[in-house]
Amino acid sequence: MLSQHQIDLIKSTVPVLRENGVALTDYFYKRMLGNNPELKETFNMGHQRSGAQAKALAGAVLAYAENIEDPSVLAPVVELICHKHVSLNIQAPEYDIVGENLLHSISEVLNIPMEHELIEAWGLAYGQLADLFIQTEQKIYLEHQQTQGSWLGWRDFIIAKKVKESDEITSFYLVPKDGGALPKYKAGQYVTVRVLVPELGIKQPRQYSLSDCASGQYLRISVKREDAKVEGQDPGYVSSTLHQYLNEHDVVELSAPTGNFFLVNPEKTNVLISAGVGLTPMVAMLNQLLTENTDPNEKLSFWQKVKAQFSHAPEKPAIHFIHAARNSRVHAMKNAIQGLAQQHDNLNVFVAYEHPEQQDKLGQDYDTQGRLDLSKLDKKWFPEHADYYLCGPMPFMQAQHQALLARGIPQENIHSEAFGTGGVTL
Ligand SMILES: Cc1cc2nc3c(=O)[nH]c(=O)nc-3n(C[C@H](O)[C@H](O)[C@H](O)COP(=O)(O)OP(=O)(O)OC[C@H]3O[C@@H](n4cnc5c(N)ncnc54)[C@H](O)[C@@H]3O)c2cc1C
Ligand code: HEM
Repeated sequence: MLSQHQIDLIKSTVPVLRENGVALTDYFYKRMLGNNPELKETFNMGHQRSGAQAKALAGAVLAYAENIEDPSVLAPVVELICHKHVSLNIQAPEYDIVGENLLHSISEVLNIPMEHELIEAWGLAYGQLADLFIQTEQKIYLEHQQTQGSWLGWRDFIIAKKVKESDEITSFYLVPKDGGALPKYKAGQYVTVRVLVPELGIKQPRQYSLSDCASGQYLRISVKREDAKVEGQDPGYVSSTLHQYLNEHDVVELSAPTGNFFLVNPEKTNVLISAGVGLTPMVAMLNQLLTENTDPNEKLSFWQKVKAQFSHAPEKPAIHFIHAARNSRVHAMKNAIQGLAQQHDNLNVFVAYEHPEQQDKLGQDYDTQGRLDLSKLDKKWFPEHADYYLCGPMPFMQAQHQALLARGIPQENIHSEAFGTGGVTL
């Protein structure tokens, strides 16, 4: 337990951390990866290159320092971070490595001796946070262990099929090399894929949302090729490895499906709002919603059974699928979703193209030109008691989140997934 004096000491470091937080964690990463180079296969070397990881950890440490007296306010982000840690197969002993390097970094960057009471207080505080994470992660590992078809650690998967979905996005259908079963994951969850990156000569892990609901047959991910954004910059390590070097019959390593972004209530109206490759978890949710009540072992669907029992069967809950893309060239899974909308009259699709191509037809390929602006959509798209799911680039999600709040949608009905470190807003 921390004493009041130690709590005060920790809190007094908040302004210093605010000023030096990123420099500190940057130093910390260099120190830790220098001392423990094997961890380079755990951490995202792309984030190291761009500095995103340094900011994320700094943010978490700072938030913890600020909330040291009531760390329960961190509970929602702890869940998010722990799911990510679990998907990276992070184990308790690694917390000692991080802790030791963090304390030495604080001491070295702030020029405070290791024996100083401030370092001791931080050691205790880090220990508390680490215990909270380790316990939460143990629970998630246990769930995986107890879920039929799930697994712990890395499992080899064969790329059974590679399907081009757009100019930028390709789907990978993955089947376990061991021929074993697959888990019934929740639509919206992700896996971590680990591949050898030729440019680096080491393996790299990245998260990918599963882009189809659980079928028991395969896991599908749909990956956007991240080209270099400015001249002289490298393309994304893992996405380009998957697109360029890995082909059908090749093997990738996967951790078990996890994550706390998933359909909460399939019985309600669900509004799925995405941009670009952010459609992947939405397509999984959509497919789950459309198959949810169908038992493959029985001929009649749940709704057919209900209809058979009552002459006035309730309506199937509506699904609104709202998507933003630049144009048809990068509009992934367009035909599949349009086909579903034709088959299911409870599915409503709305598409915004920012820069339609000449051949793109309004009313056929897309419904509005320009950036998606929810404030301009008819109110029929925004039922009060629906659940709203958001996924796309950070500015897109922030804009849609604000637009939903402005339309009176309660915060607790809005769920979002960020693709990348930095989704933790503290
Ligand atoms: C929960 C979750 C789900 C996700 N689901 C999906 C999904 O379904 N589909 C999908 O495609 N992605 C998804 N992602 C994103 C995915 O994990 C990867 O982040 C993405 O594929 C990029 O990884 P990469 O290795 O290709 O790029 P990285 O090597 O990580 O590089 C990232 C970017 O940095 C750029 N870069 C290169 N050099 C520099 C430099 N010096 N400075 C700054 N930037 C530089 C690269 O060009 C690239 O665009 C998801 C992420 C999360 C967290
Ligand atoms: C109490 C200690 C820790 C804190 C406060 C912490 C905090 C965080 C945060 C905030 C993120 C970003 C989450 C997101 O935005 O999605 C993250 C991701 C990550 N953490 Fe931790 N973490 C801790 C311990 C560890 C340990 C022990 C390891 C392994 C040695 C580790 C490895 C990672 C990795 C690999 C990622 C993903 C990085 C990326 O994709 O860039 N963390 N952590």
